[in-house]
Amino acid sequence: MSSQTNSTPKRVYNFNPGPAVLPQSVLEQAQAEMLDYRGCGMSVMEISHRSKEFEGIIQKAEADLRELLGIPANYKVLFLQGGASLQFAMIPMNLRAAGVSADYIVTGAWSKAAIKDAQKLGVTRLVVSTESSNYNRVPLPEELIFDPAAAYVHFTLNETIHGVEFFDVPVPPAGVPLVCDMSSNFISRPVEVSKYGMIYAGAQKNAGPAGVTVAIIRDDLLERTPTNLPVMLDYKLLAGAGSLHNTPPCWAIYISGLVFQWVKDLGGLPAIAEINSKKAGLVYGAIDQSGGFYRGHAQHDCRSKMNVPFRLPSEDLEKKFVKEAEQHSLIGLKGHRSVGGLRASIYNALPVEAVESLVQFMQEFQRVNG
Ligand SMILES: Cc1ncc(COP(=O)(O)O)c(C=O)c1O
Repeated sequence: MSSQTNSTPKRVYNFNPGPAVLPQSVLEQAQAEMLDYRGCGMSVMEISHRSKEFEGIIQKAEADLRELLGIPANYKVLFLQGGASLQFAMIPMNLRAAGVSADYIVTGAWSKAAIKDAQKLGVTRLVVSTESSNYNRVPLPEELIFDPAAAYVHFTLNETIHGVEFFDVPVPPAGVPLVCDMSSNFISRPVEVSKYGMIYAGAQKNAGPAGVTVAIIRDDLLERTPTNLPVMLDYKLLAGAGSLHNTPPCWAIYISGLVFQWVKDLGGLPAIAEINSKKAGLVYGAIDQSGGFYRGHAQHDCRSKMNVPFRLPSEDLEKKFVKEAEQHSLIGLKGHRSVGGLRASIYNALPVEAVESLVQFMQEFQRVNG
């Protein structure tokens, strides 16, 4: 971590849940290209979305993402606005015909938000909810009884607030597409795209800044879009226009593209997954070795590798922890109000040293206050 001088900016260890830490080299590249993007004499914020420079940016971002995730040719990649939250409505509007039901698995605040919007727009069916245990687990395979006539099955691969992550992907009945909110563990590990009908993710955790949401949709599902949707809610139209029907979030797409390149340079998703496992292992190790002083929220088999909510013996100690952590440049550790306590978000771009520093702080805090 650098200290503050006139020439070196002060950077902290950023455990924010989103918007979140970005790779320093990406920020430096953006800074270097800010005033004059590759000889055009303008910043990316000032060029036309129809210019050859921006065409190069969006095409490379898509190509790199396709390479990283191994996205098959029969899937479209869309760069959308409105956040992952708008997808909660766009998915049922596009993929569920009138009168047909859609299945939802609810494992935390985000999948609950997704089913709520879908309910306003038509028929849904709750497959299972883990709310009675305050969302500290993912369902057992035997709890996943699906409707074979469902329009799709929706689930959230990683619940950002409750810190539970699926490591086994639910298997819907043949012919029922799986729709997945991957916002908070997008490009954090390899996934088999062909298991999904649709994947979507707000960029502002692992992939880039706020403002762009990536959607990956299998071609046959685009045929479900009804003809009466407003244009900005119409997957088929937006896909047909290559995400350029209207002005896209150019800057957010540019930075996301730099992040995709950064992950590729690190060795792709298997390499980043290994680093993420190491970081998660360090935090959970500190919790498990604390003799109960630190208590993780999630059950062991579904502990998120991205978001680690945990409690201390009292709320006073939790407040003290957050305050003293800040004094050690460990920022963004306050938990979400629905779970309480602390939450360490340890996304792709958070360096291992940041997690080592947190663990050291946790051990010292326990020694003094335990
Ligand atoms: C898993 C998940 N889904 C959806 C959202 C909503 O994203 P947005 O703020 O981009 O609408 C979030 C935001 O944190 C999230 O973590």
